[in-house]
Amino acid sequence: VNYTAIVLAAGQGKRMKAGKNKQFLMLGEQPLILHTLDVFDSDPWCEAIILVTNKEETESMDSLISTASLDTHVTIVQGGKERQDSVFEGLKVLRDEKSLVFIHDGARPFVEQEHLHSLAEVTADKGAALLAVPVTDTIKRRDGHQLETLDRSRLWAAQTPQAFRLSLIRRAHLEASAQGYGGTDDASLVERLGEAVEVVEGSYNNFKLTTPEDFDKALAYVNQRNELKGD
Ligand code: CTP
Ligand code: MG
Repeated sequence: VNYTAIVLAAGQGKRMKAGKNKQFLMLGEQPLILHTLDVFDSDPWCEAIILVTNKEETESMDSLISTASLDTHVTIVQGGKERQDSVFEGLKVLRDEKSLVFIHDGARPFVEQEHLHSLAEVTADKGAALLAVPVTDTIKRRDGHQLETLDRSRLWAAQTPQAFRLSLIRRAHLEASAQGYGGTDDASLVERLGEAVEVVEGSYNNFKLTTPEDFDKALAYVNQRNELKGD
């Protein structure tokens, strides 16, 4: 089951407090974004990569890509103000409306091929799916002083990739932008259309590097992985 990956790297990484876009932070021997691109480059089902970057970082990203010598073709596209705008820019360069598109955060370098493949199979069948993990914390909703405890057995923490038939996610983004709706993920835009989105259970390893604590955890994970490989 083939797909195209849109990899998002056009953020600022403000919460990482590194003074630069977190995508360029060295995670062991290579920058974060190359770890993420490697996963897709190694997946035979991934036909092409669209890498969405900041305007000012296009050249540095381009030279990173050339030094990495990936086998998969990478197209660099300029992102937008919000994540949703960046996804929209990525979608603009895609043409085959029946094809599958995976939308993935550059800041999630540890997604595993096994899960990419489950996601691709479900999406080929159903048209929309995302990787998610069961929530481990008890989640409360607060309205004023009134607390409500949500039924944890039905709660999922959404991850990426989120995968769609191109025609569906394009329609969802067009509709959202026409109505001025901003969502925190792509699936929410499809949900608004009243379309079903399948949940595919992924792994807790596929966490997003958001804060310095996440970065430390990621570094430990990479070091442990290298030790297992015997490097
Ligand atoms: N992203 C993007 N375009 C934007 C905003 C975010 O491509 N306008 C990307 C980020 O580069 C990241 C992913 O979307 O890979 C998830 O976003 P997040 O973790 O919030 O990253 P940043 O926006 O970079 O970080 P922060 O919100 O802390 O500034
Ligand atoms: Mg952000």
